[in-house]
Amino acid sequence: MDAIKFDKSLHVDNRLLDREHAILIEHINTLQQVMGGASSRTLVGQVLEGLVEYTKTHFYVEEELMQALKYPKYFDHKTAHDKFKRTMKQLVDNHQSGKTDITEELMEFLTDWLINHIQRLDTQLAAFLKGKTLD
Ligand SMILES: [Fe+2]
Ligand SMILES: [Fe+2]
Repeated sequence: MDAIKFDKSLHVDNRLLDREHAILIEHINTLQQVMGGASSRTLVGQVLEGLVEYTKTHFYVEEELMQALKYPKYFDHKTAHDKFKRTMKQLVDNHQSGKTDITEELMEFLTDWLINHIQRLDTQLAAFLKGKTLD
């Protein structure tokens, strides 16, 4: 898998969300870099945890914004975040216990999920936020 470029196709046109999405993509790219090389399992695990932690923080920021501004699609968006968080937790647990390695397939799953989420739900959220708050 090639490194993901944070190009226009991933911009939702909200400064805060775009900045955080760019950082998320950086985490994914770093994981992609360390998983294939001679990096130790510990390092891969640390990078994976970094990605998971940042993802949680970012989801929290979006959820706080949605709640503060009474976003009508809050529930669906939050449900999508929660589901992904559970998947990621499973991933970290499996990696820690030595059950799974971070594979190309897994990277593609993470990447596809994030891109799809940004382009759909986050884009809708950003449209709602327009003119309402931090833009
Ligand atoms: Fe989101
Ligand atoms: Fe997001």
